[in-house]
Amino acid sequence: MPGTLKGLVLSGGAGTRLRPITHTSAKQLVPVANKPVLFYGLEALRDAGVTDIGIVVGDTHEEIEAAVGDGSELGIRATYIRQEDPLGLAHAVLTAEGFLQDSSFVMYLGDNLLRDGITALVDQFRTGGSDALIQLQRVPDPESYGVAELDGDRVIRLVEKPKEPASDLALVGVYMFTPAIFESAKAIRPSERGELEITDAIQHLIDRGLRVEPHVVTGWWKDTGRLDDMLEANRLVLDVIQPRNDGEVENSVIEGRVVIERGARIIDSSVRGPAIIGAGALVENAYVGPYSAISSGVVVRRAEVEHSILLANSRVENVDARVESSLVGRGATIRRGDQKPRAYRFMVGDSSEINLL
Ligand code: DAU
Repeated sequence: MPGTLKGLVLSGGAGTRLRPITHTSAKQLVPVANKPVLFYGLEALRDAGVTDIGIVVGDTHEEIEAAVGDGSELGIRATYIRQEDPLGLAHAVLTAEGFLQDSSFVMYLGDNLLRDGITALVDQFRTGGSDALIQLQRVPDPESYGVAELDGDRVIRLVEKPKEPASDLALVGVYMFTPAIFESAKAIRPSERGELEITDAIQHLIDRGLRVEPHVVTGWWKDTGRLDDMLEANRLVLDVIQPRNDGEVENSVIEGRVVIERGARIIDSSVRGPAIIGAGALVENAYVGPYSAISSGVVVRRAEVEHSILLANSRVENVDARVESSLVGRGATIRRGDQKPRAYRFMVGDSSEINLL
C-alpha cells in the first residue's frame, strides 16, 4: 500500500431531510449527546491511527471550519477541500484527488455514527490487500441506502437506493479505497438523482475485476440524516454515558446517569437519566426525562422534556404537556403565552413541523 493512510470526511451536501435545522446550520454539526455528529467520525479516524484528514465542505464551510479549526483539539490535522456543489460522493472523491494523491484512504460520511469505531475495518484493509473495502449492515429499510448483493463473501453487485432491493445489506457510510477509485469515479455517469454515486464507482471497480471486500458491522450504526435517526443516535450514545456533575443542583432529584456540565443549574426540578445538561443551561421547576440532550444555554422552566434534543440557547417554558421526541433549533422558543385573546401564536421557520395536542 503506497504512502500512509489518509482520511476523507464528507461534510458538504444539503441536509434536506433535517430541515429547518439545516437551513441555517450544517447537518454534520447537529449534536448527538451534545457533541457534533462530525466529531465522532473524526475521533473514530484518529483512534484508528488516521490523522491526516481532508474534510470536504460545501456551502456550510465557514461553520464547519469554525467548529473543527485545524483539528489539533481533536488530535488530527484537518485540510479543507471545497466542493462547489454537492454533485455526489464520487464527485467529492474526485474533488479531493489533489489532497489524496497516491495514498489509500478511509472515506467517512460526516453524518454517520458507528458504535465500535473503524479500527477493525482499517486493520482488515491494512492486512487484506483488497482494492476497496465496504461495510455492510442488515437494515429493515434497504431501499433508503446503497444495497449490496454478495456471493459468499464476494461483493457481486451494488445498487444505490434500489426500489426493489436484492438484499437487506445496506452500505454503511465508511469505505476504504486505494487510488484505483479515481479511475472508476471518472468513468461513471450521474445517477437519476443527478449525483456521481460512490456506489456506482465501487460497482465499476468490481466490473474492472478489482477486489472489493465486505466487512459486516455488528455494533450499531446510524446515518443521522433524519429526525428519527438523530433521536435514536442520541439514545444510543446517552445509553453509555458516564455520570458527572460539574454544575449546581438545588432542591432537585437527579436519578440515573446524568451529566451536568459546568455552569448548568438545576433548581426545584427532577432529572432522570440518561441525560445531559449542557454548560450554562437552566432547568427550573421542570422535569427532564430519559434520553434528553439539553445543549448549552438552554432554559427549561415549568415544563417537561423527554427523549428530545434541545439545541443551544433554546427555551421551553410554561408548557402544560410533556415535550417529547423533539428537536428544537438553536435559539428557538416554545412557551405558553399570556396575551389575550388566548390563541396559538407562532413564528415558525420554513419546513418546520409542529404537532399540537
Ligand atoms: O449513510 C449511508 C449511505 O450514504 C449509503 O448507504 C449510500 O449508499 C450513500 O450514497 C449515502 O447515501 P445518502 O443519500 O444518505 O448520502 P448523503 O447525500 O446524505 O451524503 C452523505 C454525506 O456526504 C453527508 O455528510 C453529506 C456529504 N456529501 C454529500 C454529497 C451528495 C458531500 O460532502 N458532498 C456531496 O456531493
